[in-house]
Amino acid sequence: MTAVRKTAKAISLTAENGIFSIEAAVNGVRGSWRVGAEDTLLSALRANGWKGVKRGCDTGECGSCTVLVDGTPELACLKLAVSAHGREITTIEGLGSPAEPHPLQEAFVEAGAVQCGFCIPGMILVSKALLDKNPEPSETQIRHALDGNLCRCTGYVKQVEAVRLAAGKIKNREVRRAGQ
Ligand code: FES
Ligand code: FES
Repeated sequence: MTAVRKTAKAISLTAENGIFSIEAAVNGVRGSWRVGAEDTLLSALRANGWKGVKRGCDTGECGSCTVLVDGTPELACLKLAVSAHGREITTIEGLGSPAEPHPLQEAFVEAGAVQCGFCIPGMILVSKALLDKNPEPSETQIRHALDGNLCRCTGYVKQVEAVRLAAGKIKNREVRRAGQ
């Protein structure tokens, strides 16, 4: 497996007129992108149509640009697009659809955690990474996971309820599947 480093210099890719060709899988679909050496992953994702990745502060403070890179939450505004070469990226669009929402998407709505919605993709992706590792997190663990994601609309209570609700939904779904 090719090691992918964090800077354009370290990646074994060649640029043509300052443009790199990278290959990455976004939400399960592998494709090629042409990116500049200084383009951020946030800019590249949005330029390629993944508008669920939100540009908030652009300085690593708000968490609204969070995506999963090989399952780990990362701030797309702080990552170079070239660092996505060979990686699996998940954005909020990869979790579910309006017809078949992910349990976290259902739970955030049901718990009343969504107001303007701008912070929600990042919150949900961070929560997914948490529940993937720890299916029954405590309130403290949920708060710790969400503490890099700012919300201008709510009081950081409903989101915690939503993650707990989602954990229950995922558990019930697994029990149902096991019984089929
Ligand atoms: S836009 Fe990336 S942390 Fe705010
Ligand atoms: S719901 Fe508006 S910023 Fe969080």
